[in-house]
Amino acid sequence: MDGNGRWARQRGKKRVMGHKAGMERARGVAEYCSEQGVKVLTLFAFSSENWQRPQEEVSFLMDLFATSLNNESKKLHKNNVRLRIIGDHGRFDPALRQAIDKAEALTGDNDGLTLLIAANYGGRWDILQAARRLAEAGKEMTEASLAGQLTTSGCPEPDLVIRTGGEMRISNFLLWQSAYSELYFAEELWPDFDEDAMARALGEFARRERRFGKTGEQLKS
Ligand code: IPE
Ligand code: MG
Repeated sequence: MDGNGRWARQRGKKRVMGHKAGMERARGVAEYCSEQGVKVLTLFAFSSENWQRPQEEVSFLMDLFATSLNNESKKLHKNNVRLRIIGDHGRFDPALRQAIDKAEALTGDNDGLTLLIAANYGGRWDILQAARRLAEAGKEMTEASLAGQLTTSGCPEPDLVIRTGGEMRISNFLLWQSAYSELYFAEELWPDFDEDAMARALGEFARRERRFGKTGEQLKS
């Protein structure tokens, strides 16, 4: 979800107002995905590198995160959404950790949309923590055993990765999991990424030929 700050600056507002608008857009996109039958939606909300932003912006984002968890979780539960926060929770303050645990516990048995929020997340960190767990348990490292220890374990790998805001890079998102994902870069800034923009992304995805290393001819036979 990239482009919140630029969206706000373009309107002569403070960057944090862009995050507020971005949060509302996240709610809209999650509802749309739920209606469209998407099984898993992962939103990259805060990277492990985002702590380097100005203190005021980091505090605002943490407050917005806690408030949104407390305000939205009942509605998510009512909509049969299973919420999981992936990332290193260790750096969050105790109140936020408690809000996370409560929201995950409330929605844990739902079987509609699985909504993963990546917060204090980094793709390299995810691979490293998975490898460490296997090593500590003295388990053999295979692709399957490592994938089983990633924060996304139990979820399918993403079919489609969308980055808004015009930048064409992965920025330490789901590095292992997106090995065969289709990538889609949208010019819209995240607060402008509406249902039509999402539908265009899904439409483009439907037209892609996914070969997974095979030839086009093999897929047709
Ligand atoms: C949102 O967009 C991503 C978050 C870290 C919350 P940005 O805050 O990166 O917005 P731009 O890229 O500065 O416009
Ligand atoms: Mg950005």
